[in-house]
Amino acid sequence: MITKPSALQQLPADLDGERLPKHVAVIMDGNGRWAKLHGMPRFMGHRRGVDTLKDLLRCCRDWGIQALTVYAFSSENWGRPLEEVNFLMTLFERVLRQELQEMMEENVRINFVGNLESLPKSLQEEIRRSVENTRNNKGIHFTIATNYGGRQEIVQACRAIAEQVQQGLLQPQQIDEALFERHLYTSDVGDPDLLIRTSGEMRLSNFLLWQVAYSELYVTETLWPDFNREEFHYALRSYQKRERRFGKV
Ligand code: FPP
Repeated sequence: MITKPSALQQLPADLDGERLPKHVAVIMDGNGRWAKLHGMPRFMGHRRGVDTLKDLLRCCRDWGIQALTVYAFSSENWGRPLEEVNFLMTLFERVLRQELQEMMEENVRINFVGNLESLPKSLQEEIRRSVENTRNNKGIHFTIATNYGGRQEIVQACRAIAEQVQQGLLQPQQIDEALFERHLYTSDVGDPDLLIRTSGEMRLSNFLLWQVAYSELYVTETLWPDFNREEFHYALRSYQKRERRFGKV
C-alpha cells in the first residue's frame, strides 16, 4: 500500500521505531537531470534540492532519527562551470542565513565537514555563525559535507597523527581504529547506519569512505528534488528488512 505523503507526518506504522538507523547519510544526486527533465536551467534543480533537504531534515526529526549527513559539494565539484559553482556557494550562504533562526527553534545542531578554508570568506563566516549558534542544541545532528573528499579526509587524519608521532607524543603501536576515527571530521557523529544515494548511480563518489565500511546502502532511481517522505519511507523499510552482521555470521 502506498501511503499518502500527508499521512507521513509521523513514523509510518510499518516501521519499527526501535530499529531505525541512528545516523542517515545522503548523496543528493540528480538536481541537474531533474531540471533538464522539466525544461529548466540546472540551478532550478539545486533550488528544488534545498526544499527536499529541508523536508528530509524535518522528517528525520519527526520520525526520531538522530543524525543526518548530506553531501552538498564534493572537492571534485570545483570542476563544474564557474557560474554553477558560484550559484551553489551563494545558495549555501543564503540558505544558512535564512534558516538559522528556524534551526535554532527546531533545536538542530549544525556541523560542516570538508576543507572549509577554500570556500568563499562570506560563506565561511555564515558556516562559523551557524555552527557556533547551534553548538549546544540537543536535537538532530545535521552535518553538511562541503568541499569534502573522503580520501583527502583520510590523508589529513594521517598527517595529524604523523605529526604527533614526530613530536614524540604518540607511539606508532598506539595507532588503532579508535584513534584514527578521532582524527576524522566525523569524530563526534560516528558512522552512518544507512547511506542513501538518489538518481541511480551505484558509486560512493569519495563520500565518507572510512565511515561507510558497514553502512547499509540504498540507491533509488528517484532524482533528488523528487525524493520525498514516501521515498524515505521505502528506504527505511528496505533498511529494516536487512540483517546487519558486521562481518559476523
Ligand atoms: C547533485 O546534483 C547536487 C549537488 C552537487 C548540489 C547539492 C546541493 C543541494 C541540494 C543544496 C543543499 C543546500 C545546503 C544549504 C546544504 P547534480 O547537479 O550532480 O545533478 P546531475 O547529476 O543530474 O547533474
